[in-house]
Amino acid sequence: MNERPFLSDIEELRRRAREDMESGAVTPAYGLDLNRAISILNSVLASEIVCVLRYKRHYFMAQGLNAEPIAQEFLQHANDEQLHADQVALRITQLGGAPDFNPEGLLSRGVAEYHEGDTLIEMIKEDLVAERVVIMWYADLVRWFGDADNTSRRLMEDLLAKEEEHANDLADLLTRVET
Ligand SMILES: [Fe+2]
Ligand SMILES: [Fe+2]
Repeated sequence: MNERPFLSDIEELRRRAREDMESGAVTPAYGLDLNRAISILNSVLASEIVCVLRYKRHYFMAQGLNAEPIAQEFLQHANDEQLHADQVALRITQLGGAPDFNPEGLLSRGVAEYHEGDTLIEMIKEDLVAERVVIMWYADLVRWFGDADNTSRRLMEDLLAKEEEHANDLADLLTRVET
């Protein structure tokens, strides 16, 4: 039986692992422009924070409109987006970067939109649009990270799957509220 060779020479890997040890998880084999990767993840972080804020606003406003099941859906989404923000911030630190939580410029750093919406239908529609924007963008980012940064790619894949779930929930809510 043919033994399948390793792609890398283990001794060489051990030698390279000792270089720049202070870089932690970032090794010389990191396949992307590191600063670019960190700045992209900071845009994702900003977008996720904007989504938390928008869903929180909608949660409290929907409660005022006596729409408890919809309010609960908004709250669930707000919590999911908060988890995403935390996961992205963690990944930025693993790459040796600093997560940017500065509220100034939050909207322009990310791609997610912040629309308040006056009625339930408007809120749901604005959330759906925001989800659809990040779905398209995250799909791009999955391809961009590709196999050059598998961990960030998987993170973006997980976020993408969740955003698709959110969009689906919102589309369902919309048909329920409109009929
Ligand atoms: Fe998210
Ligand atoms: Fe989402």
